[in-house]
Amino acid sequence: MSDLNNIIDETIKVLEDMKRSGVTHVDVSRETLEELGRAPRGTRVESGPPGEPRRMTSTPREGTRPTTTSHKQTAAGGPPTLHSVGNVASELAEIEARAKVCVKCGELSRCRHSVVFGVGNPRAEIMFVGEAPGRDEDMQGEPFVGRAGELLTKIIAAMGFKREDVYIANVLKCRPPENRTPLPDEVTNCLPYLLSQIELIKPKLIVALGATAVRALLDVQLGITKMRGHWYTFRDIPIMPTFHPAYLLRNPPAKKEVWEDMKAVLEKLGRPVPKGR
Ligand code: URA
Repeated sequence: MSDLNNIIDETIKVLEDMKRSGVTHVDVSRETLEELGRAPRGTRVESGPPGEPRRMTSTPREGTRPTTTSHKQTAAGGPPTLHSVGNVASELAEIEARAKVCVKCGELSRCRHSVVFGVGNPRAEIMFVGEAPGRDEDMQGEPFVGRAGELLTKIIAAMGFKREDVYIANVLKCRPPENRTPLPDEVTNCLPYLLSQIELIKPKLIVALGATAVRALLDVQLGITKMRGHWYTFRDIPIMPTFHPAYLLRNPPAKKEVWEDMKAVLEKLGRPVPKGR
């Protein structure tokens, strides 16, 4: 294990000890973050209530997408900074470390086996967003690894990608007991983590899997059946709502519609669209 990983593990242990001994808030000023060099490059950290994940304001999106590094203007309008895959990965790891000790949802944090943050390419073109981890995901600490996940992996493969090429996350990072639908407060508590993931990864587009993902990201009051197959926009990023893979397991004929939606996604990306199916 690298020194940095040791430091992160030790820091998490110290924070967990503090939490056990009754500490509920730690104040870190913006100035301290800047002094420590923790304010992510190319993002502006907005102060918020203690314990909240940082709210980050993105820099303008770029027209082109280099595979390794890109130069961004800082939000303050300063000189361009190097924003590499490594930076994005380490900033994601920082946010994940915070999510792993999150206790904002009392019931979920007591019941969880793991915090399922997200997996994939930090510079993915496509981000798939589901609802919340199920039992398999909670046990393995990775999103979409159960039956619905196997189907999602097949859909991704049919599109010409591997799981490692895309980024996969959920609205909730903790499993709701008995896989119940996430409560509105839980979505409110957890959404900043997903927003940070989107801000850092800057996918070219998002596929919202099912109603919970759609409602979390879009202020539209239509059902998923009406919304799927149509493009929406979230902070300048195109979103394609489609059926959740768990729904497809219960209703296999709907796979046809999801495949139509995925073909539209490939077209939008300028990727080859497989014939047939
Ligand atoms: N369903 C989801 O929405 N997410 C998962 O990770 C697994 C099942």
